[in-house]
Amino acid sequence: MDTQSLIENYESGKSLPQAFYTDERIFEMDMQHIWQKYWLFAGVTADIPKIGDYFTYKINKDSVIIIRGDDGEILAHYNTCRHRGSLICTKESGTAPKLLCPYHQWVYNKDGSLFKARHMPDDFDKSDFGLHPVHLKVVEGLIFISLAASPPDFEPVIEGFGPFLKPYQLHKAKIAAKKRYVLKTNWKLITENFRECYHCGAAHPEYCKAVIGANLKESAEVYLPEKQADWSAKGLEVKGIDFVDDSFHFAVRYPLRPHFESYSLDGKSVSVPMGEHRDYDAGVLGLVCYPNFWIDAVSDYVWTMRITPVSASRCYVDLSWLVDANAVEGKDYEVDRLVEFWKVTGEQDWELCENNFAGIESSHYQPGPYAPSELDVVKFVDWYIDRLREGTRSVM
Ligand code: FES
Ligand SMILES: [Fe+2]
Repeated sequence: MDTQSLIENYESGKSLPQAFYTDERIFEMDMQHIWQKYWLFAGVTADIPKIGDYFTYKINKDSVIIIRGDDGEILAHYNTCRHRGSLICTKESGTAPKLLCPYHQWVYNKDGSLFKARHMPDDFDKSDFGLHPVHLKVVEGLIFISLAASPPDFEPVIEGFGPFLKPYQLHKAKIAAKKRYVLKTNWKLITENFRECYHCGAAHPEYCKAVIGANLKESAEVYLPEKQADWSAKGLEVKGIDFVDDSFHFAVRYPLRPHFESYSLDGKSVSVPMGEHRDYDAGVLGLVCYPNFWIDAVSDYVWTMRITPVSASRCYVDLSWLVDANAVEGKDYEVDRLVEFWKVTGEQDWELCENNFAGIESSHYQPGPYAPSELDVVKFVDWYIDRLREGTRSVM
C-alpha cells in the first residue's frame, strides 16, 4: 500500500502499521507535519542562567541556538550563518558575549542582529543579515520553540500549565542532574509507552509501590476527593486538562500512596520542598505537550523529559532533574538518591520501547488492538494520524 493510502486507511483502535514506525519517508512526514509545525520543548531557563549562556537544539536538519540575551530574556535563532550558511555554534552549550561564525568570522549579537562582517563592501547593509528568528515561548521556566512559519496557538498551554507550575518556581530552580539516552526505537513508541499503565504492573514494581492504581488492580478514586480538597486549600491546581479535539497538551495531579513523600524507592523525600511548597504533599503533577514534552513533578523535585527523533529507528531522550534554587548538594539532596527512581523506572521503559520497535520490524508484525486501559494511546495515535492527514491533504 502506498503511504497516502496507509494514512487514509488507518483503523483507529489498533497500533499503527509497520511503516509508521520504520519507514524513513514517513519519518520525513512526521518531521514536516508535526515536528516542524508544533511546539517543541527545548529545555529550561535554568539551563542558561547567565547572560550569554546558550544551548543548541537539533531537530532533524535544523539546529537552533537558544540564548540568554542582554536583558535576561530568552531568544532563539536558526543556527545557520547569513553569509554562506555555516553552523555558528558547533557545541551543544556554552557562553558567548557574541556569536562568532567559525568560517569567515561574521559576528552576531545575542539578539541575532549582525554586529560585524569583515571586508564587506561599503554598501553592504548589516541590518538585512540578522539570524533568522525562531518562535519561542517560556512557560514558568520551560522553554518551547516552534519551527513553523505560523505555529499553532500556544496560549491554551500557557494558561493551562501556568497555575500547575507556579508553585515549583521553575524559573529559579536548580538543575541537579541531567542524563541522555540514545534509543533504538521510533519516537512514537516512547510517547505511546508513556500514555498507558497497562504495562506498569509487570514492568515497574518500584513505580507501582509509589502510585496507587498504577498496577490497574487498585484505584486512587477513594483518596482523590480528600486529596484534591487538601491541595486546593494549599492553592495547588487540581483541575486536570485532557486532550480534546486537536489540542496537544495535558495535565493531571494524582496522589502518591499514603506515607509516600516523593517519587523515591523508599517513599521518603529526596530534597527540600521546592519553590512555594511547604510540605511533601503535592502528589504527582504530570504534564504532557505533544510531540516531545513530559514532566513528572513531586513536592521536592521536577523530572523533565525531552524526546528528539534522529531517524525512524533512533531517538534521544534527554532527562533533567530540577530541585529548589537553594537546595545544597550533600546537605539537602544526594544526586544518586534524587535520580534513582526515574533511572530505574525510565530504564525499564527504554528497554520496553526498544523491544517494541525490534518486534515491529519483524516480517510478521501486524497492528494489534489497544486495550481499554490504553485509551490515551488511542487518543495520541488518532491525533498523530490526523496531523498526517491534514498535512498531506493540504499539499495534494
Ligand atoms: S559562513 Fe559564516 S562567516 Fe562565512
Ligand atoms: Fe512505563
